[in-house]
Amino acid sequence: MKKTLITACALFLTSAATFAQLSTNPDKFLGNITTSYNNDVDTHGFIFSDYWNQITPENCTKWDAIEPSRGNFTFGNADKSANYAEKHNFPFKYHTLIWGGQYPSWMNNLSTSEQYSALVEYFDAVKEHYPDLEIIDVVNEAIPGHNPAPYKAALGGDGRTGYDWIVKAFEMASERWPNAILIYNDFNTFRWQKTEFINLVRVLRDYGAPIDAYGCQSHDLTDMGSEEFYNAMDEIQGALKMPMYSTEYDIGTSDDNLQLQRYKEQIPYFWKADYCAGVTLWGWIYGNTWTTDGNSGLIRDGKERPALTWLREYMQTDEAKNAKSPYPGFKKEASIYVHPAAMKVAKKDVLPIKVRATMATKTIEKIDLYVGDELVATMTEEPYIAEYEVGSSTGTKTVKAVVTTTDGSTYERLARFTVANGTKRGPYNETAPVLPGVIQAEEYDKGMSGVSFNNVLRENFTTTSLKDGAWMEYTVDVAEDGFYIMEAEVASKKSDGLLHLSEYGFDDLTFFTNLTEVPNTGSTTEFKTMRCPLIKPLTAGRHILCLNIDKGGFYVKSMNFKLATTFDVPGTVEAEDYFNGNADIVQTADGYALGNATADTWAEYLVDVTQAGKYSYEATVSSAVDGSKFSIVLIESDGTEKSLATVTVPNTGSNDTYQVKSGKIRNTIPEGQQRLRVKVTAGNCNIDKLKLICTETGIDEVTRDDMAAGASYNLAGQQVDAGYKGIIIRNGKKIINR
Ligand code: XIL
Repeated sequence: MKKTLITACALFLTSAATFAQLSTNPDKFLGNITTSYNNDVDTHGFIFSDYWNQITPENCTKWDAIEPSRGNFTFGNADKSANYAEKHNFPFKYHTLIWGGQYPSWMNNLSTSEQYSALVEYFDAVKEHYPDLEIIDVVNEAIPGHNPAPYKAALGGDGRTGYDWIVKAFEMASERWPNAILIYNDFNTFRWQKTEFINLVRVLRDYGAPIDAYGCQSHDLTDMGSEEFYNAMDEIQGALKMPMYSTEYDIGTSDDNLQLQRYKEQIPYFWKADYCAGVTLWGWIYGNTWTTDGNSGLIRDGKERPALTWLREYMQTDEAKNAKSPYPGFKKEASIYVHPAAMKVAKKDVLPIKVRATMATKTIEKIDLYVGDELVATMTEEPYIAEYEVGSSTGTKTVKAVVTTTDGSTYERLARFTVANGTKRGPYNETAPVLPGVIQAEEYDKGMSGVSFNNVLRENFTTTSLKDGAWMEYTVDVAEDGFYIMEAEVASKKSDGLLHLSEYGFDDLTFFTNLTEVPNTGSTTEFKTMRCPLIKPLTAGRHILCLNIDKGGFYVKSMNFKLATTFDVPGTVEAEDYFNGNADIVQTADGYALGNATADTWAEYLVDVTQAGKYSYEATVSSAVDGSKFSIVLIESDGTEKSLATVTVPNTGSNDTYQVKSGKIRNTIPEGQQRLRVKVTAGNCNIDKLKLICTETGIDEVTRDDMAAGASYNLAGQQVDAGYKGIIIRNGKKIINR
């Protein structure tokens, strides 16, 4: 009796196993993609989860599918895969955030700074819809000559690392999904662009960008011999020593034997590698896959091809079941990024090195930092920064951070820097310029090419002639926190020059200005002032600012950093004194105004609201057409946007004839430092000034929770005694005390 029971059980287990997914390794997945554009998961009579345990949507998480028109997000198809994966408890991968293929074509019609806004909106929308993504192809196919995003300038372009825009994309992804495995993915990584692939990923790694793994698409392996393939795998891993994925594997051939042979040669090499976290095949139904007329499919005419039969058997071997992965349970435990302050440094200099390390569930006990074999620091407290004293041996050095957690596990991450013969970096003069103040363009930091400047010469010590991709850094001391405006004196006889200001900080790569066009001044000796508002505040203290020449051919003489004007509210905002925006400035009879502003013209102002309450506005405006409109939005210090008013500008007969247009402001305005945004939505108008008049104070004070019950307050919120005559607030109500 007992014996029969056991047999029955065993039988049951065996038959269940036949229908389980192919890989039963809990730490390494064998995934596949959706079939056809309508995003089938189960397809052609076959159940996806009988075979695969990870899903990548073939097309429907590409940007063009997610946001077909600007601001219109469609997640319906993507949700089919995401829900399927969730139901079966296996990973869903977002493929892909940034790619030069399958992005929405409306991006091509936007200015660089609008493209950046669109990117932020896209990332935010994906974050809102999928807050807990576990695996993301952050950037796809960025190797020059592959398919780099044509809108890469919006992310900072090449910049000092050569791949600033990719660093930025990873930072934006990491901010939103700190626990996701962030992947850089590309094709031809095993064959033609192997070196370029290694170099690109290594730059990201050495810079300390939050990249966790590299993805090798693996579309290119059908006619690749096994030795060459093994060597390529080894070479890439040897150089990067990071987790990897085979992300889009397919062997496109109608020849069953050739397909089987490649599977047998290649799959175990991926699978056995302890640095490989998973393999995703790119399609499985013959005739319905992307490559070579669909003949990479594994199920043909309803029957399994030999490669699939073999794959199932292989996945049941001990070798496959026990293979190790860098991501046990498919999850990322450690996020470790090592960032030497410079990728190149002079002999005998001091190089700060920062380790950014966070654990998903464990606790860090210590971090050991090595340069070569030498243990240079053991750190137990954040921030994990070591000041490394560079010796006199030149060459490339490898930095290794070993993070030990309280349960005794260790996690490693590498970076590199180069020691070269040359001048140590430092400010050009004895003391660094103080901001607010002026920086002379030719007085960029002393040091070596590739450390404090690149591709630039000091010309006659007055101006600097700039080439594409040139950059120069300036050590400065910022005296006061605040929003600044950089006014640069430039000379150019063409109008396609572009520049931006950045800082290669320890925690992130900060863009202080948008990529800004350099005006045509008529000649290379005629200097004019161009205005670049800083889009983030500068904090007091030492900074190293980097001036990036994204498209060169012009001269810069100086950069004057001024604190942006802050307007008091109630009071008058002078429209031309915006600190950020894209509006043109024109002259009026007695000053300046925003001129000829059309839809999508915008300007932002710093305001200090001294009185909370209800407001009305008086806008001094002009227009030669009917139907011009602009909106006024308040951005509170926490980023909350409050719509204040939509102003309809009358046709005043000409842009030089101004009228005052007044109206009510919809929302109450709270006290404090805030930003005001004016955005033109239709027509063509000039905006001279905007007076904000407080019509009723005490609005916010009424609801203030520190007001004692029964006590009386005036409309400014100050406590008054019971004999106070006039309007008072008591118990949250306004009353008149006669
Ligand atoms: C392919 C899809 O399979 C096709 O359906 C689509 O028409 C084009 O894109 N590298 C990638 C994948 O990262 O997104 C591509 O997918 C194949 C190459």
